[in-house]
Amino acid sequence: MAKLTIHANSPKQTINRNIYGHFSEHLGRCIYEGIWVGHDSPIPNTEGMRNDVLDALKKLNIPVLRWPGGCFADEYHWKDGVGPAENRKRMINTHWGGVVENNHFGTHEFLRLCELIGAEPYISGNVGSGTVQEMSEWVEYMTFDGESPMANWRQENGREAPWKLTYFGVGNENWGCGGNMRPEYYADLYRQYSCYVRNYGDNRVFKIACGANSGDYHWTEVLMREAARNMDGLSLHYYTVPTGNWKDKGAATDFTEADWFKTLQQTFKMKELLVRHSEIMDKYDPDKRVALIVDEWGTWYNVEPGTNPGFLYQQNTMRDALIAGINLNLFHHHSDRVRMANIAQVVNVLQAVILTEGADMVLTPTYHVFDMYKVHMDAKFLTTDVESPAYTMNGAHLDQLSASASVNEDGHIHISLCNLHPSDALEVSCDVRGYTGQAVRGTILTSDTMQAHNTFEQPEAVKLAAFEAYRFENGELHVTLPARSVVTLRLA
Ligand code: AHR
Repeated sequence: MAKLTIHANSPKQTINRNIYGHFSEHLGRCIYEGIWVGHDSPIPNTEGMRNDVLDALKKLNIPVLRWPGGCFADEYHWKDGVGPAENRKRMINTHWGGVVENNHFGTHEFLRLCELIGAEPYISGNVGSGTVQEMSEWVEYMTFDGESPMANWRQENGREAPWKLTYFGVGNENWGCGGNMRPEYYADLYRQYSCYVRNYGDNRVFKIACGANSGDYHWTEVLMREAARNMDGLSLHYYTVPTGNWKDKGAATDFTEADWFKTLQQTFKMKELLVRHSEIMDKYDPDKRVALIVDEWGTWYNVEPGTNPGFLYQQNTMRDALIAGINLNLFHHHSDRVRMANIAQVVNVLQAVILTEGADMVLTPTYHVFDMYKVHMDAKFLTTDVESPAYTMNGAHLDQLSASASVNEDGHIHISLCNLHPSDALEVSCDVRGYTGQAVRGTILTSDTMQAHNTFEQPEAVKLAAFEAYRFENGELHVTLPARSVVTLRLA
């Protein structure tokens, strides 16, 4: 039996909707095929972007979308991707599979995508191989209203009014693929580059500095010490790699219970990272002005057999659904500092919410978790104390229950629960302090096996269903969570 105490009588900070952000890189079949099929494609599209994917993304109410990378960002020269498509420069995507990048999807196409799905753009600029002038002119191109060389060029290329651009990243993984820099060197470059990321007219740019690689606390220390006053956000990247070994990460669908357990253990490292990076940030920024932006997270497995190793294409099972639920719960608990997160990546790459094959599309278990959890966006976080039985394996243990709760502006309380055990159900009793009603509605995602996933042949093997295994007793809500399940309850 697990026990939850939800302090519904004292709502806390807002859960920033941007925690439900996504990431789209020029990598494998994310942009090309996954989103962009071109105007002449037989796949039904809107201005070159496939309608099935647009509709699925709209349904998730994606708040923010990051682009063009990732490692690709620090090799990307934005001027190659504007103007008539037939004149755009062809380049080699050296990081990701060595394929030809024809630049048919560029600034105009990305910003149009954001308009079509109702997301705010988050653009990553090039520090590793780009110049200050190039970055500065990109912002001028997108946001300057009036006469200027870049604004005139934008207009010649078909866009009269400037776009609204809020989120701008000054480099990506500059400790690695973005230039192999030391934090001291990058901190100085950040100060220099970000200085020329201008606010034109009413546009206000929220500037995000490249943050640490998982547990590199020294990076956070140096960036906060040297550049906190110049930034609005500092990023953090952490991927869940089942084996912890980048050379053989483990398979997406072919795994044992021991692998399941190990993967969940690895994902819980996120908790320690949020706590320890936040502590350092608190030292330099006690008022929590600078946001922690987890702009890359999710599972990273060996690629599907027979696919291009540089394309990072992987399947997505009930294990991924739990990992999504656990991480979103963690972000809620730390939402005083974590104000954006971007799962990697939106279509066909890593822990994708959507997979495509030709004209076909499937929604992954991770998609369904985002769909279920979207009720927490912009709601107030409710402190939730969790007393959970242990899920043990080979002497190690995890809490069997992961949970979080929020209250929205209509006064509806939403509680999200993940039962991590692959074969045992879990009884949960919830003391929802301050709640006196009994009107509950529930949704569940579960599956017959740990490895269950959606395929193009069986696209609905794992799907959402109504959930009714709850009752009120002596003023407490009692819930029976099936094994390996994610549930969201609404208390009206
Ligand atoms: O998401 C895939 C890659 O992972 C990104 O390009 C990079 O930033 C990270 O290492």
